[in-house]
Amino acid sequence: MSDRKKSVQDIDPAGKRVLVRVDFNVPVKDGAVTDDTRIVAAIPTIRYLLQRRARVVLMSHLGRPKGGPDAKNSLKPVAARRERLLRQPVACAVDCVGEGVEAAARALEDGQVLLLENLRFHPEEEANDAGFAQRLAALGELYVNDAFGTAHRAHASTEGVTRFLKPAVAGFLMQKELDYLGRALDRPARPFVAVLGGAKISGKIDVITALLGKVDRLLVGGAMMFTFLRAQGRPTGRSLVEEDRVDMARAVLEQAAARKVELVLPVDCVASAAADGTAPARPVALAGLGPDEMGVDIGPETVKLFTSRLRDAKTVVWNGPMGIFEVAAFAAGTLGVARALAEAGGRGCVTVVGGGDSVAAVQQAGLGERFTHLSTGGGASLEFLEGKVLPGVAALDDAEEA
Ligand code: 3PG
Repeated sequence: MSDRKKSVQDIDPAGKRVLVRVDFNVPVKDGAVTDDTRIVAAIPTIRYLLQRRARVVLMSHLGRPKGGPDAKNSLKPVAARRERLLRQPVACAVDCVGEGVEAAARALEDGQVLLLENLRFHPEEEANDAGFAQRLAALGELYVNDAFGTAHRAHASTEGVTRFLKPAVAGFLMQKELDYLGRALDRPARPFVAVLGGAKISGKIDVITALLGKVDRLLVGGAMMFTFLRAQGRPTGRSLVEEDRVDMARAVLEQAAARKVELVLPVDCVASAAADGTAPARPVALAGLGPDEMGVDIGPETVKLFTSRLRDAKTVVWNGPMGIFEVAAFAAGTLGVARALAEAGGRGCVTVVGGGDSVAAVQQAGLGERFTHLSTGGGASLEFLEGKVLPGVAALDDAEEA
């Protein structure tokens, strides 16, 4: 796979039907979008196409419907938000394939937008069915993929469709994501520090292994710290420990030492008898964690320690919360790390946050503007950091050699 892909700037979309895969998989509550970050992020590509008189057909999935239409996962609320952001009408198709949809796409005039209904209402989407991909391809004359968040899925709308519709190029968001994440990994200004959190080492082992070959320092928080502490023979109370991954944690500690990567583990945590915030919580040095307590966040001394280990950083990649941050009483560690990274950014450090919960924490702290890049991809950014090929990217046309 070539690193560089053709972009939306390499095509002439005037008067053409442009089929654009976006990731509008956004949270919806009571029929309204509650976080429009991904919709906003796709605007530059859509606006660019409209300004060049393209006829834009947008397609996305929403949620994980079980292979059939269901009102809860309809993209209609997204169209409403989209209209407000674009300040122009967005027509909604009743489906994403079929004669009616084809007619609606053909009836588009220059500068008009049609949003297809949820792709996952058809099981053929996730099965990457060739016939379904061909029916999607029939809706456009050019294909643009701006759905970085779904690029790790080899689905009909991200991979299959490119076999039937060329040129197949990257949108601005896709390019920006690949650029920032790729640059941080391949040409980092040093010291290069990774901050990793999350509940389980099993879900993060590939990214830990990949990053150990690149970073100068690795800060580990989140419940997975307790599997590391167990590997060091230290007390963990009732904290989440993956017993069958203790050897894996030990191997990571050894690899880090062999590669001269400084692996920094927490020195304290917030302890509680309940993970849902219904019991009192207290900060405690790790050695003082009681047998009936569990660690639910990194503690204040660890926030200070991590902050100090970020002070000289020139590049930081962060993935995964430091604790159960959705419970307000257990959010201080994650928010503290967000603040430390924002400060590092103020000193010229490149700060890249890999999607999902960590991005939500940054936004919650109102610090979004102070980061170099907040990825719109959760699983996709993780797989990118793991060094995996993303099928939705690989399927796009290679850029011509300069
Ligand atoms: C995401 O939210 O990570 C993407 O939209 C992909 O969704 P999925 O995990 O349901 O495939």
